[in-house]
Amino acid sequence: MLYIVDTANIEKIRHCIEFFPVAGITTNPTIISKERTDFLSLITEIKAIIGPERMFHIQVTGQTADKMVREAHALRNIVGDNLYVKIPIGEEGLKATMALHKEGFHITETAIFTQQQALMAAMAGADFVAPYVNRLDNIISDGVNVVSEIVTMFRQYQLSTKVLAASFKTAEQVHKISMVGGHAVTVNPEILDALLYHPLTMYAIDDFSADWESVYGKKTILDMVEEETN
Ligand code: G3P
Repeated sequence: MLYIVDTANIEKIRHCIEFFPVAGITTNPTIISKERTDFLSLITEIKAIIGPERMFHIQVTGQTADKMVREAHALRNIVGDNLYVKIPIGEEGLKATMALHKEGFHITETAIFTQQQALMAAMAGADFVAPYVNRLDNIISDGVNVVSEIVTMFRQYQLSTKVLAASFKTAEQVHKISMVGGHAVTVNPEILDALLYHPLTMYAIDDFSADWESVYGKKTILDMVEEETN
């Protein structure tokens, strides 16, 4: 499972990559616009923070295939390696996906709501498809089932395209995606925290500390080793 963080907030990105096994960052025009800052400076700063190894998914804003392709080239000049060009599914999006795939770009087809949209994006050359789990749940569809069927279809047709499930509101939705073999999730930092937290874990760690301190006081293992070697 790849954990990707769905934010363009610099402080949150710094925190998430320091404390979590984060494979990359995803953004979209909504996420970017929340930061209310210069776009080019923002993506340059994010790239500098996440480094060359992590993926950086940035969505095009052009409405035609031609503009999407030109934006992809411009973004690659700024971001370099590990850029994933996010393209909304649709006729223009598929045309851009096919052209960019031929040129060797990484592509994430986004705004996916059906299994057949995902299959078509994969056939056009997308590396990832991003189905919107919570938005599907909110229309009384079943986001996890849509992801599950996409995973099955890709396996059935031996496609290398991966499912990057998106749009989460609960840790339970993420858990269910992991149970149906979703390859990756993009989540906000609050969901990452929720996935990690359990009160019994906190109690257990507090008990370990209390038991240790009852015998050794505040001395850590490191203190003891250093005392011995000095
Ligand atoms: O990357 C976009 C996707 O995660 C949408 O999320 O919360 O706006 O439904 P949301």
